[in-house]
Amino acid sequence: MNNFLKVAIFSLLMVGAFAGYSNFGIPQIEPAPPPVEEKLDLGAMTMDQFVALGDKIFHGKGTCTLCHNEMGRAPMLDKIGTVAHERLGDPRYQGEATNVEEYLHESFVKPSAFVVAGFGKSGTNDTESPMPDVSGGGIGMSDAEIAAVIAYLQDISGSDITVSIPTDVPEEGGDEESEGGGRAPLESAEAIIAEFGCGACHKVAGETGEMGPDLTHIGALRGKDHLRRALLDPNAEISEGFMEGMMPDTYGTQLSGKELEMLVDYLAGLK
Ligand code: HEC
Ligand code: HEC
Repeated sequence: MNNFLKVAIFSLLMVGAFAGYSNFGIPQIEPAPPPVEEKLDLGAMTMDQFVALGDKIFHGKGTCTLCHNEMGRAPMLDKIGTVAHERLGDPRYQGEATNVEEYLHESFVKPSAFVVAGFGKSGTNDTESPMPDVSGGGIGMSDAEIAAVIAYLQDISGSDITVSIPTDVPEEGGDEESEGGGRAPLESAEAIIAEFGCGACHKVAGETGEMGPDLTHIGALRGKDHLRRALLDPNAEISEGFMEGMMPDTYGTQLSGKELEMLVDYLAGLK
């Protein structure tokens, strides 16, 4: 064998050995530890901190701003302190609340007790609300979190804060969603759908949202390319009969590539 060939084979072997070593020999870099969960130490909280917690939940875990935003699909809540009094005196009011705090609580967990005119599910003549019960299903707010959001809404709408900070609350395990960045990868399409609250607007994975297209058979209608684009750039093409700008256009940055493909595969499989 000539020298050149020997050298060539030797270096190929070396490269191969190194590739093998780097695949199996170098210990995997440990994934960063999950972000330290924020303890809800309610006992030590001032009302300002409790209101700030409500603010965070309203804009994060609660998914409230998916609908309560400038798009006009749900009423704005910045004057709800005053508005609530009008609701209670409205002849259409069906609920049991007697003050602002109770009205807010009822609106969160029994949205159909009073449906703001023009905002009901279509065809129900404003008797059924499209808003989900925020204590159940995909949102799952605890009593303490609900109280914090009530305090927040009372605060921003300039009414007196009447809630008291609950003290005897079981630990809920913090809110994973609001901080972004350090989120652990989601392992299934269902987990992604739950985490991102798709079910607030879509019928999918057992959820019953009504503000976007029914996705229970979407795979029979749409291919993967269309679905991927619908997730990454929802306003590129608007499904017939639905409003532009409703579907959040932030999933492209929030989902990892792997999560996106898992979700696309799942949706494409819903025939
Ligand atoms: C899927 C969309 C959606 C989500 C998510 C949602 N809402 Fe609503 N909400 C609505 C719609 C639509 C209405 C108006 C119909 C009605 O009165 O129930 C409404 C009504 C309300 C009302 C009564 C407003 C009034 O003027 O009387 C309150 C209070 C409220 N929402 C708070 C919240 C809070 C707090 C959250 C988050 C924890 C939330 N909503 C999440 C759609 C939504
Ligand atoms: C705030 C409401 C809202 C949320 C939250 C939301 N969507 Fe949508 N979505 C819509 C609306 C409205 C449309 C129709 C308008 C459009 O095409 O942009 C839509 C369209 C779609 C379509 C295209 C359907 C078709 O007929 O081609 C897909 C797929 C979809 N959404 C999936 C999702 C998934 C998955 C999530 C969660 C990661 C999600 N959506 C979250 C409101 C929402």
